[in-house]
Amino acid sequence: MTAAAWEWVAALAAVAVAASLPYWLPTVVVALRVRVFALVNGDEGIAVPGERVGVEDFKRLYADPAADGRSRGAALSDLFWYWLAPGPQVHQEHLEPGPRYDDVARTTRSTLARLRRDEWAELVTRCADRELDRLAAAERPGRVREVRLRDAMMPLWAAVYYEVVFGEPCPDEARDLIVANADDVASALKCTSLRHMRRRERLTGYLRAKLASGAAPPRLPAALDAAEQVYYLQGTYFNTAVVQMSEATAHLLLALAARPDLQRRLREEPEDTGLIDRVIDETLRVYPLFGVAHRITSADIALGEAAIPAGSVLLFNYPAFQHSGAPDADAFDPDRWLRDHPGHLNHIPFGIGANRPCPARAVAPLTMRVAARRVLRRYALASAAGHTRSLPNRGPCLLLPLGAGPDASPNTGLDTPRPPALRLARQRLRDRWEDVWRSLVQLVLGTYMVWHARRLRLCTTHFATHLATEEGSR
Ligand code: HEM
Repeated sequence: MTAAAWEWVAALAAVAVAASLPYWLPTVVVALRVRVFALVNGDEGIAVPGERVGVEDFKRLYADPAADGRSRGAALSDLFWYWLAPGPQVHQEHLEPGPRYDDVARTTRSTLARLRRDEWAELVTRCADRELDRLAAAERPGRVREVRLRDAMMPLWAAVYYEVVFGEPCPDEARDLIVANADDVASALKCTSLRHMRRRERLTGYLRAKLASGAAPPRLPAALDAAEQVYYLQGTYFNTAVVQMSEATAHLLLALAARPDLQRRLREEPEDTGLIDRVIDETLRVYPLFGVAHRITSADIALGEAAIPAGSVLLFNYPAFQHSGAPDADAFDPDRWLRDHPGHLNHIPFGIGANRPCPARAVAPLTMRVAARRVLRRYALASAAGHTRSLPNRGPCLLLPLGAGPDASPNTGLDTPRPPALRLARQRLRDRWEDVWRSLVQLVLGTYMVWHARRLRLCTTHFATHLATEEGSR
């Protein structure tokens, strides 16, 4: 071959490699990221399910009374504390069992129980309508617009949880601070962005001033001091609740956006809650919000032939558990809930009843249902973007207005608009290429944050200082 021919071959090969990047690079980068994480973070921990513990023992081990350590003794905790700062030492999820934990957990339970079901529905309806009005006002009536579902849902849940905590409508300033805080936490957790403590501390300052002005929420944990109570509010409601609800609703709407038939069925039977509840169950089964929840064992646990020694770090892998137990467990099929007995499906979206389950497990599905219905009443949804559990793309979705504008009455499936094929094709292509760039960003930022968290050692230092103080006061 001539030199010119070689140049052509090389150029064609380079184009072929470049064009195929979206199909293999993100997977390679994810695998690399896992290895880098293990390298920097140490490969502590017993994977459950895994080599030592099978799927059949997953729930039994999770529910064991000795699987009760939360933060202390696991290097992994330094990373979670880093991501959830400020105030991870009083975050309910990370408190060790004891009187402080009991007080905090009781306060959260009673705060969520303050509203009746109809009051929750009214609150979410009002906040959703207000946010959807804002969205509509930013566009010409009737125009198709593209949103990232997680971003579109965050202001709604910020407004809902502000009102749950303070019993009054959420002012715009607070809403923006809560969204900035929650978005920062969620993006850092997914390694798509670094954490920005100043952004988070602006909300801390706002809450501190609010409590100092006498506008006390009806319930605060008495076992915490004033500074800790601010962190409690920020961590539980304006971080965990807002992030989890925004992610869960984004997953639900994205799953519907890819399935026009399901949207049609839901619109045709707006009063039938059975189908939407099955879609919610299936969404949380296929896309569990938790990747891994960890526990540190406080005593030996006997498990058949195997024994798990005290001080072990157990890594309960939600996706691995929920995607097992049925041959088609990876498939998204809401009607499986009609065929299979729910007790036979591996489904623990809110954790395990015997071991610190989610306090919002009754409220979350109810409020997701209300929010989704308010969206579906105004828009048909369409998306060709990738849908993965960690949702790093934040759920790109086309909103196709039903009727002439925000005041349009609910439509039937017959007038559901057809999504513009060109926009969907463009969205798919853009999402694929964003994946390439994003996975590289996640690799770099994730590695940096794991390293930074190991340097700061927030959890390790906290317990070392506490033990030293306790020793000194004896
Ligand atoms: C669909 C939405 C949600 C899902 C899927 C979800 C899921 C979970 C899961 C799986 C756990 C247990 C993790 C473990 O065993 O370590 C948990 C714990 C927790 N969740 Fe949620 N959650 C959601 C919404 C909320 C909301 C709205 C709140 C608001 C207060 C909340 C607050 C908490 C707290 C405080 C804990 C720690 C419980 C404890 O350790 O006592 N979650 N959540």
